Amino acid sequence: MEEQKVKNIVIFPYMAQGHIIPFLALALQIERKGYHITFINTPLNIKNLKQSPPLNSSFRLLEIPFNSSNCSLPPETENNDSIPFSLNLTLLQASVSLKPAFRNLISDLVRGGAPPLSVIADIFFGWTAEVAHEFGIFHTIFSGCGGFGLACYYSVWMNLPHNYTDSVEFTLQDFPEAGRIHRSQLATNVLPADGTDSWSKTLQFMLSSWVDSDGILFNTVEEIDKTGLDYFPRKLSLPVWPIGPIHLSVDTRARSGKKYGISSESCINWLDSKPQNFVLYISFGSQNTISASQMMQLAKALDSIEINFIWVVRPPLEFDINLGFDTEEWLPEGFIKRVEDQNKGLIIVKWAPQVEILSHRAVAAFLSHCGWNSVLESLSRGVPLIGWPMGAEQFYNVKYLEEEVGVCVEVARGTKFEVRSEDIVEKIGIVMRENGKGKEMREKADQLKKMIENGGRDEEGYKGSSVKAMEEFLSVAAFFGKDKVRGEDE
Ligand SMILES: *[C@@H]1O[C@H](CO)[C@@H](O)[C@H](O)[C@H]1NC(C)=O
Ligand SMILES: *[C@@H]1O[C@H](CO)[C@@H](O)[C@H](O)[C@H]1NC(C)=O
Ligand SMILES: *[C@@H]1O[C@H](CO)[C@@H](O)[C@H](O)[C@H]1NC(C)=O
Ligand SMILES: *[C@@H]1O[C@H](CO)[C@@H](O)[C@H](O)[C@H]1NC(C)=O
Ligand SMILES: *[C@@H]1O[C@H](CO)[C@@H](O)[C@H](O)[C@H]1NC(C)=O
Ligand SMILES: *[C@@H]1O[C@H](CO)[C@@H](O)[C@H](O)[C@H]1NC(C)=O
Repeated sequence: MEEQKVKNIVIFPYMAQGHIIPFLALALQIERKGYHITFINTPLNIKNLKQSPPLNSSFRLLEIPFNSSNCSLPPETENNDSIPFSLNLTLLQASVSLKPAFRNLISDLVRGGAPPLSVIADIFFGWTAEVAHEFGIFHTIFSGCGGFGLACYYSVWMNLPHNYTDSVEFTLQDFPEAGRIHRSQLATNVLPADGTDSWSKTLQFMLSSWVDSDGILFNTVEEIDKTGLDYFPRKLSLPVWPIGPIHLSVDTRARSGKKYGISSESCINWLDSKPQNFVLYISFGSQNTISASQMMQLAKALDSIEINFIWVVRPPLEFDINLGFDTEEWLPEGFIKRVEDQNKGLIIVKWAPQVEILSHRAVAAFLSHCGWNSVLESLSRGVPLIGWPMGAEQFYNVKYLEEEVGVCVEVARGTKFEVRSEDIVEKIGIVMRENGKGKEMREKADQLKKMIENGGRDEEGYKGSSVKAMEEFLSVAAFFGKDKVRGEDE
């Protein structure tokens, strides 16, 4: 029994592809260290995982009972990706109803003689800590976000500072290191929040339960993210373990069902034909798109500047994201023809082989929404960023990378921002220019690349910070409850 406890780790992400995929990658990484993984999710998500191409793993996939019809959701609604935005909050609220079922499931594991060594749960599932502790099990939260971004996100939702001032800028009382935050850096659901609305009630409930956990695992690297990582031990008296970057391997990506709009091979061949540091890569991540007028301005900018580009496009905000991409309607007249005639750029619909692109010597900069995963993929290849944050903690990621780290220039904020092609041209120019600030940013990005590599180094006589953090987490978990049952003397 003791033997199995040492081996089994329960993994429980929120029901959204953007959460499930990093958790799968984390699970693979832990499994390779010799642990058994029990991966929990609602029935349809587990079914999806079983039907996707098999991972090279022996995860135990376990269904937690959930019936969306019981929670004011349409039947068979178990994944955030299959619902309209108006139900986003409903699914989040419904997830809290999983608590009794989660308790049963852990109880069964314990009684079946396989008590988990640790539960690793989503940032939205802090409530699982209480259940884990009831059974004397170690509990951690895993964040796919970086430390700085998540610290701002946490502080803003918990304190709602914008609700206490009329000015457009304010500081975070418990995280002054973040500097001044502007109202335009608040996501659309934060702006109207005043503590009485459903968004803040739900998120405050979820975030406030983090204090019950035993620590937070971060997909980040200590050396590049100290300011944000320091916030959590101070605020919550919890240890943090920066164990990133968690690599989304080819087979974890494949399960998102994302088909590239181009083969990796033709993409690389095209890049091979371009000079070093001459290509701008543009992608707003898997869940975002820009408005029709912003798309026009961006295209105009690309038309008028002497660079090559790869642009991953989706229908603009005003249109159904599942529509085909209408190049006639959504891009300036003759744009596609000019691009093709001059072999100036690649326009790729929906998905591109991002890691391969960022790894290519021809790519000089990445115009990105700066979701943390994209940030890590870019920086670990030494590619500086042009930030266009869209939501959640992305505004803070950009703020940090621009103001503190110096590897990013912000070009626009969100989908309502009136961006002008001249400004886009100027920002692209700053970052891609061979000299001056562009050069400094590439050098800085190169330093970060080395820090990230070092974090993951595991060699005779040298262990990087991320490797050490993972080992420390596993050993703290293994000793948990050995001397006392938590709760008895607290
Ligand atoms: C599958 O995983 C095992 C051990 O985890 C590894 O030795 C093997 O190379 C992997 N196979 C593939 C195809 O990745
Ligand atoms: C859904 O509600 C029905 C009727 O109340 C109940 O029998 C069923 O157990 C519920 N399912 C879940 C997963 O909660
Ligand atoms: C979910 O619950 C509804 C009634 O609450 C029931 O009609 C339906 O059959 C249930 N679905 C599943 C898959 O259990
Ligand atoms: C949920 O889906 C909406 C679109 O329906 C998307 O904007 C949002 O980012 C998704 N959330 C997560 C956590 O994946
Ligand atoms: C939808 O909700 C998820 C959490 O459920 C959140 O991460 C995401 O940012 C939300 N989407 C938007 C556009 O606010
Ligand atoms: C938000 O501000 C209003 C007025 O400024 C105040 O009445 C309310 O209490 C504030 N919300 C919270 C959660 O304190």
